[in-house]
Amino acid sequence: NAGNGSTGSASGAGSDLPLVQAGTLTVCSDIPYPPFEFEEGGKYTGFDIDLITDIASEMGLDVAIQDVGFDALQSGVTLAAGQCDLGASAMTITEDRKKNLAFSDPYYDSLQSLLVPEGSDIASIDDLSGKKVGVQQGTTGESYTRENAPSDAEVIAFPSDAEMYQAIQAGQVDALLQDLPVNIGHAKDGKFTLVQEYKTDETYGFAAKKEGSEALVSAVNDALSTLRDNGKYQEIYDKYFTE
Ligand code: ARG
Repeated sequence: NAGNGSTGSASGAGSDLPLVQAGTLTVCSDIPYPPFEFEEGGKYTGFDIDLITDIASEMGLDVAIQDVGFDALQSGVTLAAGQCDLGASAMTITEDRKKNLAFSDPYYDSLQSLLVPEGSDIASIDDLSGKKVGVQQGTTGESYTRENAPSDAEVIAFPSDAEMYQAIQAGQVDALLQDLPVNIGHAKDGKFTLVQEYKTDETYGFAAKKEGSEALVSAVNDALSTLRDNGKYQEIYDKYFTE
C-alpha cells in the first residue's frame, strides 16, 4: 500500500482537532481516478492528493491516504465509521449527500461526459437505446445516466472507474458515462472518443462525517483559501489541467 507522508509543522489549526490519528489528517479516497487520485511510483498522487497534502500541511498535520470504495464513501458510511477524517475523492457536493456528510467549500468545477469506442455509431445519450452503458456505482454519473438515458438502455454499475474502463476495452459495454476529466484520460490512447458533454454544474468538495465536523471543515476551508491566495492552488491546478 502506498502511504504518503508529509511533514507538517507542530503548530497550526490541526493540533486542536479530534482526529482519527493525532497529528495526521487521515484521508479516504477511491483510487485510481486520474487525474484526481492515482498511484505513481508506489505513491498516491493527483490533483486531490496534492491539494489535500498541502491543506494538511497548512493545518500543521501529516497526511495518510487510504484507498477505499467510492460508494460507501459518498453515502457517508466510511466516514461515520471513523475510518478517516476526510474524503478526498473528486466527490460532487449534492443536497442528497449533505444529509449524511459535511462538505468543505468547493475546490473544483466538473461535468459529465459520454465515452464510446472510436467508430461507434453512438453519438449521443439518446443512441444508448438497446445498448449497454457503464457507470461507477454511487456516482453522479450513475444518477445522471439513470435519469437521462433511454428506458431500454442497460445501465451497468461498476464498483470502480478502473473496472468500467476494463469493461469497455473488453467490449462488454458500449459506452461509459463518467466525469469529463476522467473520460478525457480514457480517450488519450486514441481507441475511445468523447461524443457528448453534460453541463451538470457539479463542484467537488472534501467530505467529513455529518456530525461534529464543524471545526475540521472550517480549518480545511481556511487552508484552502490560503492556498488560493498564495498561488499554490493554481500551481497544483496547472500541474494536472494545463494541456
Ligand atoms: N464526481 C462524481 C461523484 O461525486 C464521481 C467521483 C468518483 N470519484 C472517485 N475517486 N472514484 O459522484
